[in-house]
Amino acid sequence: MREFIYFSARGRTSGNFHDLMKAGRMDIAIHVIIASFFLSNKLRENVKLHLILNGPPDPPKHLEFVSDEEMPISKKDVSGLIKRMLYKYKKGRKERVFPGCYVEKKTFSQLLGELKLEGKKIYLLDKKGKDIREIEISKEAVFILGDHEGLPKRELKEAKKNAELVNVGPQTYFASQVVVLIQNELDRGNF
Ligand SMILES: C[S@@+](CC[C@H](N)C(=O)[O-])C[C@H]1O[C@@H](n2cnc3c(N)ncnc32)[C@H](O)[C@@H]1O
Repeated sequence: MREFIYFSARGRTSGNFHDLMKAGRMDIAIHVIIASFFLSNKLRENVKLHLILNGPPDPPKHLEFVSDEEMPISKKDVSGLIKRMLYKYKKGRKERVFPGCYVEKKTFSQLLGELKLEGKKIYLLDKKGKDIREIEISKEAVFILGDHEGLPKRELKEAKKNAELVNVGPQTYFASQVVVLIQNELDRGNF
């Protein structure tokens, strides 16, 4: 399973948004979702994406997408899917809104703790990290990415404690482009 965490420091945590840019840059989250799951002619199998939204009015929200469960996702309306997931949030539980689409309240730190317990190898995407082509990527890999401002201080500290830093190239890329570059590395390595 390829696994990604995208942390959106200001991503809106209720479904009542219209302007994606004003909803804490939900446009970037949508690009990350598309890069995680869509190929030209089919959906990718074996991918899990964790979206942590940490903006108003009720942070944090953990949206989990699992491609192996027949997610009802269309490239034309990813924002509609996010809205429906946020509207269906139920306090105190992990709600399966649709196959492969879950919503719950969970912090970045809790999620990292769980993934560590599951034995995952965590990588933090960071320009100062090792070249991804020079490491042997674990089969249990989870890749953490920040939003347009990078990870906030607290989350960065937490991630650095638990992760190996890797870079995907010499430029600063959009988070969605980083996902594409990682997918490509993994595709080439037949993961
Ligand atoms: C648009 S970038 C953030 C730019 C932000 N100004 C910063 O310096 O962190 C979004 C995310 O993509 C990842 N990223 C961008 N370029 C990268 C690179 N060359 N190698 C690894 N990760 C990268 C980082 O995780 C970053 O938080």
